[in-house]
Amino acid sequence: MVGGLPCREMVVRLGCWATAMASTGGASDTVHLWGASLRVSPGTLASLDAVLSGDERQRADRFRFARDRDRFVAGRGLLRTILGGCLGLRPADLRFAYGSFGKPELADAAGVSLRFNIAHAGDRALYAVAWGREVGVDLEPIRADLEIAELAELVLTPDERDLIDSLPPERRTECFAALWTRKEALAKATGLGLGLPFDRLDVGGVDDPATWIVYGDRFPDGRRWSLRSLDVGAGFAAALVVEGDGVGVSWRTWTVAADCRVRDGCDGV
Ligand SMILES: CC(C)(COP(=O)(O)OP(=O)(O)OC[C@H]1O[C@@H](n2cnc3c(N)ncnc32)[C@H](O)[C@@H]1OP(=O)(O)O)[C@@H](O)C(=O)NCCC(=O)NCCS
Repeated sequence: MVGGLPCREMVVRLGCWATAMASTGGASDTVHLWGASLRVSPGTLASLDAVLSGDERQRADRFRFARDRDRFVAGRGLLRTILGGCLGLRPADLRFAYGSFGKPELADAAGVSLRFNIAHAGDRALYAVAWGREVGVDLEPIRADLEIAELAELVLTPDERDLIDSLPPERRTECFAALWTRKEALAKATGLGLGLPFDRLDVGGVDDPATWIVYGDRFPDGRRWSLRSLDVGAGFAAALVVEGDGVGVSWRTWTVAADCRVRDGCDGV
């Protein structure tokens, strides 16, 4: 049960919320973010599993560990529920296609202008959804034990490396995670994946997470992109990239605990 509701109904409610988002705040100048826990009860997991396609179930079955399988099922099931709500379609009826570097998108004409992207880190997932604009999100744990020197050589620009070197040692991994999530979010928004020249793309220099950095025509496709970090709480770094500029952000958080209690609300910008 979820707050008095059976788990299946909780999933339906999530879809209803997304529908409300589509009808009230779904204008193309807002990007909608959902944070979710992928640790769900067996009942919720079964409800989410029921909306997956055959190829998604096959993919789920290829995971070696049950924990990874369950996270994938929960993550995909929630994605389908959110998108289905936005489009007024049954989550199970959605079909996905994949770009050359693996970016998922909606295959059917009904969802042609709805764009989305997902990031997960352990049990946490972050979903970004927008009408008529490409989006990319990334979410990473800040790992104090990460040896960043070699990685920095590979993926940061000289200015970004100088920025990290100027910080006290205890702040360096946090700064690296902020820069890295910005680059990954760009890679995911453009769909170029690891093909993006990370070591030539400067994303540093802004401390305030809510400040947008706007990129002009630096990309092969000449499109304009806006980037910002996201405050997702201690221990994690996250970033969002949106096609175009002048975009607002709305947040929702869904936490379905192992005992199937749900905490929702947390709207913000
Ligand atoms: C996409 C990528 C950035 C994922 O990074 P990650 O930190 O491991 O994982 P995240 O949790 O942030 O994101 C995973 C989600 O991103 C989405 N995704 C996958 N490929 C993507 C792409 N090219 N662009 C945008 N999003 C992508 C998927 O929804 C995936 O979740 P799912 O597998 O549950 O559906 C990384 O795997 C990548 O760059 N892949 C592209 C591969 C590539 O460029 N190959 C070069 C060919 S030579």
